[in-house]
Amino acid sequence: MRSSVKSARRLAVERDPLLPLTARIIERVDETYDTVSFTFELVDEDIRKTFNYEPGQFCEVSALGEGESTFVISGDPGTPERLTVSTKRVGAHTEALHQLYPGALLGFRGPYGKPFPVDDWHGKDVVIAGGGIGLAPLRPVIYHVLNHRDDYGKLTVIYGARSPRDLVFHKDLEAWAKAPRTELVVTVDKGDENWTGREGFVPAMVKEVAPSSKNAIGVTCGPPIMIKFTLPVFNELGFEPKDIYTTLEMKMKCGLGQCGRCNIGPYYVCKDGPVFTQSQLKDLPQEF
Ligand code: FES
Repeated sequence: MRSSVKSARRLAVERDPLLPLTARIIERVDETYDTVSFTFELVDEDIRKTFNYEPGQFCEVSALGEGESTFVISGDPGTPERLTVSTKRVGAHTEALHQLYPGALLGFRGPYGKPFPVDDWHGKDVVIAGGGIGLAPLRPVIYHVLNHRDDYGKLTVIYGARSPRDLVFHKDLEAWAKAPRTELVVTVDKGDENWTGREGFVPAMVKEVAPSSKNAIGVTCGPPIMIKFTLPVFNELGFEPKDIYTTLEMKMKCGLGQCGRCNIGPYYVCKDGPVFTQSQLKDLPQEF
């Protein structure tokens, strides 16, 4: 009886991709005063075992009965049975999510969108420039490079936040600082009385660190203003527009190219992105 209920559910999902799967929260990390990472697993064991996603893909997560929001999957793609999203409190739905703890159920749809083409980067250096919670979409790229360390050259991670209390993924930052052939640079716009690290904006830090552009890929995500100023710094350092990637955060709803809400220029961000190269961005109206 139970298995027929499960198969009926799976058939329903196959029929209607907008129908969420049920997931159970297994871990909650309060990253900052307004940002929580939830790790959860799909309740249907068969779907969970075959579920996969790639760095940069996104999903729709719902606090049951409270709505739905778009999040990039921010966990380790090497363990796809454990899904993580990092949620900043910005409205009623994320507020509802922040009331949830391990054991609670969520709705999940995904994964959606084009990922970072990490397999095309084999043999290259990878330079990551992230700001604030914009590190979330980049974290799976970092996990992937570290999981396949021999396939990539040097990994440089430049990460900044407004203040020390806005820095996320503390455990990861500690691990990345010790990872092989990896340089981690953490900066804040303005430190506090306990801060002994660097101060300065991410674009300025990219310029100062000046990673080599030879046989290298640049990847950036963060507040739009940070991306806007980081892209030309990558260019100054010699990175070509086709080798610079970012991920766009347009208001998405269906995630499937059906509702038209994420349309920008010739693209639907949900289907043609959210990952774009700087070359592609040049064709877009300045809406992002
Ligand atoms: S989110 Fe509906 S078309 Fe992209």
